[in-house]
Amino acid sequence: MNTTKIYSLYSHFYDSFFGRIFQPGRRIANELMDVQPGEKILEVGVGTGISLPFYSKNAEVVGIDISQDMIKQAEKRKQELNLSNIRLNIMDATRMAFRDGFFDKAIAAHSITVIPEPVETLKEMKRVCKKDAEFFFLNYAGSDNDIITRFEKAISPIRNKLGLGKAIELEELLHSVSFEIVFNDRVNIFKLCQIIKCKALVHNGKI
Ligand SMILES: C[S@@+](CC[C@H](N)C(=O)[O-])C[C@H]1O[C@@H](n2cnc3c(N)ncnc32)[C@H](O)[C@@H]1O
Repeated sequence: MNTTKIYSLYSHFYDSFFGRIFQPGRRIANELMDVQPGEKILEVGVGTGISLPFYSKNAEVVGIDISQDMIKQAEKRKQELNLSNIRLNIMDATRMAFRDGFFDKAIAAHSITVIPEPVETLKEMKRVCKKDAEFFFLNYAGSDNDIITRFEKAISPIRNKLGLGKAIELEELLHSVSFEIVFNDRVNIFKLCQIIKCKALVHNGKI
């Protein structure tokens, strides 16, 4: 089953399973983003829009997701909370329909390990953001206990098949596409998730 089909199924109960338990990290990520009035914000893999209530109403927020059913849930949330500053689009993160340098800040919360092509996604995020943009990544990072880590790596293919993300070396991946990590911390229960803030490295005026 591909990611779109998996999340079509998950859309009905995603919030019950992955809502409250990961919500403290989402809140911290939003605080770290420090969204300013008028800023253009991109959320990649917005899912059911579980982070939408955190955004300042003065910012222009665009949430994208490849799953029509996840976006449907996000739309419902947007209407219920009257979040008129938020736009939601069904879109593949590896081929975004935005012009170069459009956004001030971008976040991928629990999505970069789920998206089958993370490198292409990171490159696209860089392309659609301004040169001095800030990027935020929130992910399940697993335990820092060696034995548990080995177990987690062993079951990673199963997690991946279930669309729950694969074990990736996110820091290495970010460096490989010229992101500079400026903040890195652990959040959520047992510090199982990682929050990273990055800037894109600029070489001869190009990112
Ligand atoms: C684990 S959910 C994360 C939802 C939410 N951001 C959160 O904090 O819980 C991952 C989301 O990434 C989306 N996704 C997977 N591949 C994608 C792609 N290529 N482009 C855009 N979204 C994608 C899935 O449909 C799903 O809604």
